[in-house]
Amino acid sequence: MKKRTDAPTDRLFEKIGKIGMVLPVAAASLLSTGSVAQVAGSPAKMTLGSAMPDPNGEITADRQRAYRLFKAITGIAIAIDDSRLAQMESLIAAGNEKGAAAIATSDPSFYDVQLRDLARKMSVREESVTAPLSDFVATFVGVARDGLDARELLSGNFIYRADIAKVLVNGQGQPEVRNDTLADIVNSNNHYADLQARSYSLYSVLVRENGQQYSNDGETLQPMTDAAGLITTRQWIREHADAGTNRRLVEFSFRQFMCAPMEAWMDASRPDDFVGRDVDRFPGGSHEKYQVTCKACHTQMDAFRQAFAYVNFAGGRTRLTPGQVVGKMNRNSNMFPSGYSTTNDRWVNYATAPRNADQFGWRGPASGSGMADFGRLLANSKGFSRCMTKRVFASICKRAPGPAEEAAIRVIADQFEGDYKLKGLAETVAVSPICISRE
Ligand code: HEC
Repeated sequence: MKKRTDAPTDRLFEKIGKIGMVLPVAAASLLSTGSVAQVAGSPAKMTLGSAMPDPNGEITADRQRAYRLFKAITGIAIAIDDSRLAQMESLIAAGNEKGAAAIATSDPSFYDVQLRDLARKMSVREESVTAPLSDFVATFVGVARDGLDARELLSGNFIYRADIAKVLVNGQGQPEVRNDTLADIVNSNNHYADLQARSYSLYSVLVRENGQQYSNDGETLQPMTDAAGLITTRQWIREHADAGTNRRLVEFSFRQFMCAPMEAWMDASRPDDFVGRDVDRFPGGSHEKYQVTCKACHTQMDAFRQAFAYVNFAGGRTRLTPGQVVGKMNRNSNMFPSGYSTTNDRWVNYATAPRNADQFGWRGPASGSGMADFGRLLANSKGFSRCMTKRVFASICKRAPGPAEEAAIRVIADQFEGDYKLKGLAETVAVSPICISRE
């Protein structure tokens, strides 16, 4: 049985005082992001809720635990006498912590603040929480809100956008969000920029739209025939296929979805038959240097890079030319003319030596063609479920899990694979003993 503490009035005020110190900070940070209490007449907008504690209320240890859980899970602080915390307190007192956590993960702020910001960091090279809203962020939040299988993040052929009926001026008349698929979603980020500027709640307004699209000429919409969830969103292609040699698409897919920066999976022992012709085999005159350093990254990365042979980002939009290799795949071919020359989008998974086989836990075929196959390979791996676990852990527990916690992360990830729902994952993480202190 859990113990309830009946604090005397003076102790009570002391506690309120402590919590009160937290609230202004939270409130200040919310001024820029918006919380999610809903405004009358405009239910889809986010605004600040009132945060005045009831001085006659009683603050038990369970209520404090509820307060901390709610704040950790949603990313926002609410008043200590809020009815959501009262509900959570009862569940905690009854020994049902997971049930209490589920109240927080059912709250719009879990999606509108916590998951939005987690996705924002994944959506840009700088990994910044101030990244703009985009099709990437909306799709991540939408998949979580609708309880879809998280593997669809890397294999789905859909995006999330605002339901136009929910973004009308004062709930009626004209939409106040630019909403033309070609002009505002495919050729630009206008749609999502407007959702952000007008503080819409993604939780409230998002709707799933099946069939990703792109446009080569900027005038005609074309179906994305090689869709790979977030990997083929405009935002991702913009970040990682703009200029360069399409290697960044591989680098960041591993960084964001497998939690493996290049240094964590480089391996000079792998075959280098896919390493591009632009990579010098004698950097500074030293073949040794190529063998030891360049090869370590380029063997595996360049073998996967073929998945992106037909994709590019130019003129503000994604281009796809199935069957026709984009020029940058074979750039600077005179550096080492007997290197690999890309002729199609068939890729090979060389990240299969013991260390990488263990950290990635592959379950898919060792080769494939194009982005959809590549996305599925990542999605079905243990590396992906562990990485989602680590990202949710970092967001909720406010620190990265340490090496000593790898075993615990793997146990939670295995459990997550039972249904691949991000909501349940967040609940499991939040109540795990390694996350939030019970003190
Ligand atoms: C730690 C991993 C790593 C190592 C080691 C490494 N590379 Fe790379 N290389 C990358 C990544 C990632 C990219 C893609 C960068 C981008 O597009 O932003 C890249 C891109 C390149 C490119 C294409 C640049 C362009 O955009 O035109 C060349 C050429 C290249 N590397 C050569 C080398 C050579 C030569 C060495 C050894 C001296 C080397 N690399 C070592 C990871 C590595």
